[in-house]
Amino acid sequence: MDKKFIEIALLNKLFDKKINLTKFLNKKYKDISEEQIIETIYDVQTGSYIKWAMKNLKIQRNYCEEIVEIIDSMKEKSFVNYLDAGVGELTTLCDITSKIKKKVSTIYVCDLSWSRLFTGLKFSKKYKNIKNKIKPFCSDMKCLPLPDSSIDLVTTHHSIEPNFMNVDLIVKELFRVAKKNLLFFEPCYEFNSAAGKKRMNIHKFVKDLEPYIKKNGGSLIKKIKIENPFNPLNATACYMIELKKKSQRKKIKFTFPGENFSLIKKNNFYLSNHFGVSFPILKDIPILRKENAILSSIIC
Ligand SMILES: C[S@@+](CC[C@H](N)C(=O)[O-])C[C@H]1O[C@@H](n2cnc3c(N)ncnc32)[C@H](O)[C@@H]1O
Repeated sequence: MDKKFIEIALLNKLFDKKINLTKFLNKKYKDISEEQIIETIYDVQTGSYIKWAMKNLKIQRNYCEEIVEIIDSMKEKSFVNYLDAGVGELTTLCDITSKIKKKVSTIYVCDLSWSRLFTGLKFSKKYKNIKNKIKPFCSDMKCLPLPDSSIDLVTTHHSIEPNFMNVDLIVKELFRVAKKNLLFFEPCYEFNSAAGKKRMNIHKFVKDLEPYIKKNGGSLIKKIKIENPFNPLNATACYMIELKKKSQRKKIKFTFPGENFSLIKKNNFYLSNHFGVSFPILKDIPILRKENAILSSIIC
């Protein structure tokens, strides 16, 4: 599927007029991919989550306090490597990881939208106790640039939600990089009100993750209803998942997306000796997506 190049000024105007951008893009570009729609509609919203969080401090705090309690109640003493996939503007991530009592050494954060990551990283600078632990990368959750079984805790907050066509691939990939523990905070049809259910149907949100967790070999330890969701029309469930795995890695290097081949960091790019390709780094954020790889075998 060819990537579409979309007139962003027009899209910004439509966004300001509250036009449904998913509908618009699907109509205008018949064979546009789900991934490009998600990247585009979130990229044009950049800044809106930070604004919302600043205006709605109490709602933000109540949601995050519930999540902090869940993480701190887990039996593991520390999570050396933590990954939040689909982190957006880092508003939820910063609030949670700056408050959890468990020791966390490195916080990997990724998103499809570079603009949101860039803006979120600036926002994260005020969280003094975590800002130096954050390691961002731009990538797709279906294809992560991390080795198998390398992350102690993998979380998502409403980021699997819009991937209606690709839930299975995403769950499979998040299970690949996790060592054992995952917490998905995602919408849940069963916990939603009638109006919320209707909204989920209209937006084609992913309704329930249980079948995908089972299919990919995960054990659902608990499914907890979050009492203080961000949006009362979008009920959140916490899917607490455990995997049974033998090998557990300690050191992490970025890898070719979806594989275990390590990348080598050069001045302003990451190099894959195995495939002879390079990945750019834009304003300190590595762009680790297959479609952004540049064939550059002469460097190897
Ligand atoms: C509803 S927002 C939630 C953002 C953040 N987790 C939070 O709690 O504020 C969903 C985010 O997930 C990202 N996302 C959705 N699908 C993704 C994918 N396949 N790979 C990477 N990021 C994705 C979007 O770009 C967007 O920033």
